[in-house]
Amino acid sequence: MPAKEFTVLILGDIIGRSGVRAVVSSVAGLVKRYGADFVLVNGENAADGFGITPQIATQLFAAGVQVITTGNHIWQQREIFDYLDQEERILRPANYPGGNPGHGFCVVESRGVRVAVLNLQGRRRMYTIDCPFRKAKDLLRKTEANVILVDVHAEATDEKEALALYLDGQVNAIVGTHTHIQTADDRILPRGTGFITDLGACGPADSVIGFDPTISVERARSQLPLRNEVSDNLAVMHGVVVTIDRDTWKTSRFERFAEESLV
Ligand SMILES: [Fe+2]
Repeated sequence: MPAKEFTVLILGDIIGRSGVRAVVSSVAGLVKRYGADFVLVNGENAADGFGITPQIATQLFAAGVQVITTGNHIWQQREIFDYLDQEERILRPANYPGGNPGHGFCVVESRGVRVAVLNLQGRRRMYTIDCPFRKAKDLLRKTEANVILVDVHAEATDEKEALALYLDGQVNAIVGTHTHIQTADDRILPRGTGFITDLGACGPADSVIGFDPTISVERARSQLPLRNEVSDNLAVMHGVVVTIDRDTWKTSRFERFAEESLV
């Protein structure tokens, strides 16, 4: 008998070697533990904190990840540009100017279920790119899928929450990324969309949002533009589990989790 539920695991921003190591070695175990049918990760900070390379993306796909979203750092590794055009399953925010490499939306099939993923970026204290609200409405109008997931990569909590309420009822889940700190507001909104302001991150536990605390403290104290360096210690992995009813395609459960990596 086919399962009555479709379960999605969504992991927060992967940060540096520690985060990549943790996710690659843990995905299969997490899929088993949570009974996941689909894995979505944000790979924004995987390449030493700034963007992602084709090699890392390939490793993540081989480990069992279905789709990778990103954010503002996606343009920092130039070698990713062609890969963004060629690989459907890696996204950059959809509301960057038209003509930029890559795409911000995809529909992939997993276990007979059509899953759409939309990647957006906020504008408050970030780049003044196209409006994420209008871009989301435009793309969702044409979408035919059983399950729709949205990653909003943004700094401001109110921008993420407003976007979630704007799209409430039209998608299964909206997850915030970028701040690397998991928020405790995971819930199902009035019209049925699962939402969390920020997933958190998959990266070094002993750090300042993934970076070396010594440098971060000195940056804050001196106000000098010191370059952040990613810490390399055991990672914590933050994310949510989204449970979707296969009869109605509505989200029935939406819960955050935090797991410690052993490698
Ligand atoms: Fe970011």
